[in-house]
Amino acid sequence: MPSDALIRAESLIRTIPDYPEPGVLFRDITPLLADATALRAVIHAMIAPFEGDFDVVAGIEARGFLLAGAVAMEAGVGLVPIRKAGKLPRPAASVSYALEYGTATIEAHDDIVDGTRVLLVDDVLATGGTLVAGHELVAALGGDVVGTAVLMELPALGGRAIVGDVHSVFLG
Ligand code: PRP
Repeated sequence: MPSDALIRAESLIRTIPDYPEPGVLFRDITPLLADATALRAVIHAMIAPFEGDFDVVAGIEARGFLLAGAVAMEAGVGLVPIRKAGKLPRPAASVSYALEYGTATIEAHDDIVDGTRVLLVDDVLATGGTLVAGHELVAALGGDVVGTAVLMELPALGGRAIVGDVHSVFLG
């Protein structure tokens, strides 16, 4: 049974049709982020199944960063940014993938010690390409993805079938 704060948090996610391209239903989490109670509730909900089981959070640019930093602070662990290509001076690994709209490449620095337990965090699971690439990237760096948490999963896009076990706070 979700808490009142989580119910309120879900109500603060705006759905915007035809953005950034015709036919895409964009999930805008900015109203949720702007609400302290809602933000706290979703951060707690993202961490809950993995409490004490991870050493570092890997957050995916850009909207994933907004949640990953808060998750890391709340859990008392560090943060490894997974960035879009060309943003890091010394990328140690790079993975390309298809998006719901377009293609992208993600990279990370080698700040994950071999065997480090990693919680992978993003805002939305859609087709799953981003999180699969995130898993591959963390593995390439020697990390061990022990959990994957997203704020919202869009089941109609089928991402779970390729990503595997994902903890989703909300279904869209
Ligand atoms: C969005 C979203 C996820 C990804 C999900 O990122 O933030 O990272 O798409 O899609 P998928 O499951 O189909 O891979 P996007 O690259 O649009 O960029 P942003 O976070 O930088 O806005």
